[in-house]
Amino acid sequence: MDKRPIGVFDSGLGGLTVLKEINKYLPNENTIYFGDTARVPYGPRSKETIIKYTFQAINFLNTKDVKAIVIACNTATARALVEAKEKYDLPIIGVVEAGARTAVYSTKNKKVGIIGTTGTINSKAYNKAIKSMDSKIKVIGKACPIFVPLVEEGWANKEISSMAAHMYLDSLVEKGIDSLILGCTHYPILKRTIGEAVGEDIKLINPARETALDLKNILEKRNIINTSEKKGNCIYYVSDINDQFSKVAGEFLKRKITNLEKIEIHRY
Ligand code: DGL
Repeated sequence: MDKRPIGVFDSGLGGLTVLKEINKYLPNENTIYFGDTARVPYGPRSKETIIKYTFQAINFLNTKDVKAIVIACNTATARALVEAKEKYDLPIIGVVEAGARTAVYSTKNKKVGIIGTTGTINSKAYNKAIKSMDSKIKVIGKACPIFVPLVEEGWANKEISSMAAHMYLDSLVEKGIDSLILGCTHYPILKRTIGEAVGEDIKLINPARETALDLKNILEKRNIINTSEKKGNCIYYVSDINDQFSKVAGEFLKRKITNLEKIEIHRY
């Protein structure tokens, strides 16, 4: 039995979509969430910068004595997971492999779309992961950089998001994909808008569920799962406090965000 918390981080609100699944499949685990709201978005930044930010987030989470870390950010997973695993001893998992695996199970016509930040799409991390599982699958990527600010602004269900979704996704739909990976953890917050833009014949894939199940598997294998009967708690940290975080997070998680603290991430 290991009651230490699990560290979860993202550039901002997006990782909450992964936290939600962790809470669902591992309800007794305590969690520490860090959203790097002072430096969101990560999407357009260089690999070097994202590695630096990722290491700082992990250094901070380690001060909270976490037993495992989930990089709940596709951009940071695509750019820095390998380097983070090399540097740190504790279990660290990302979201890309889980998302790729789900897409491989889902596609019938072997045409998969992947949307994400510019960093994730340019890294081709999903293409490589999917091809390594099934080389016959065609993967078509599209960066949608405007989606993250729309989510952070709390505008996921507004007309402006629907217009952006059509501008980005109509050409992808024309290519005949049958599955679309939401390859940025912010995008499940836009799921309704994206679903309406692409139509119901295209299956939307959220890597979060499979990520939570991968995490469960790792905790069980290492015998560090929290077997307590008590529901776990979550403490939230951000690198910049704004009203948006509590508001959008509370709406998305359907609970009041009370324990929110600001930290100086550049110190880590
Ligand atoms: N939510 C993140 C991702 O999954 C990062 C978005 C961003 O900061 O650009 O890629």
